Amino acid sequence: MSEQLEQDTFEVEPDEEDQPQDEPELDPEVAARRAAALAHVRKFGDPVLRTRARPVERFDDALRAEVARMGELMNDAMGVGLAATQVGVLHRLLVYRVQQQAAVVALINPEIEWSGKEEETAEEGCLSLPAVLVDVERKLHIRVRALDERGEEIVVEASGLEARVIQHEIDHLDGVLILDRTSREQRKEAMRALREAQQAA
Ligand code: NI
Repeated sequence: MSEQLEQDTFEVEPDEEDQPQDEPELDPEVAARRAAALAHVRKFGDPVLRTRARPVERFDDALRAEVARMGELMNDAMGVGLAATQVGVLHRLLVYRVQQQAAVVALINPEIEWSGKEEETAEEGCLSLPAVLVDVERKLHIRVRALDERGEEIVVEASGLEARVIQHEIDHLDGVLILDRTSREQRKEAMRALREAQQAA
């Protein structure tokens, strides 16, 4: 199975999951928008990705603008989730959308208040780690308590891909990357891919 296909099952639009080819052909306009969005996403090596974000205290128009901007960046980048640290903002804020037609969900100051015992391993990619795919074990079922962009409390019960994306993005808010959650062997290989991608850039 090709790397790109595996990546599509995570950070890229999930409906491309069944594409048999390596890289689905993107409309040039869509590809250009994606590249422009990705240019705003901090990449591996940027210390902000290793920094713990601070709780959001002000639920004002500036915060709502930040949420809207992150939602747009995530859509344009064709990701299924984005954490504020990935755009250089140290706020405990993440956005995600695991189904193309669904609304973007923003979780602010999220806390996993419950998780089931069951775990599942699957390949994950990350917009901040181009060309990297590693196996990550995650809880299959979680319950998250958070605030929305108006400061109202929300509770999300998530399973499968949705639970995986939320755990991945909360990790970002703690400065944790998928490299920290995979095997030593896969981490070594990922580091090599990152070096090669950085040299090619
Ligand atoms: Ni990520």
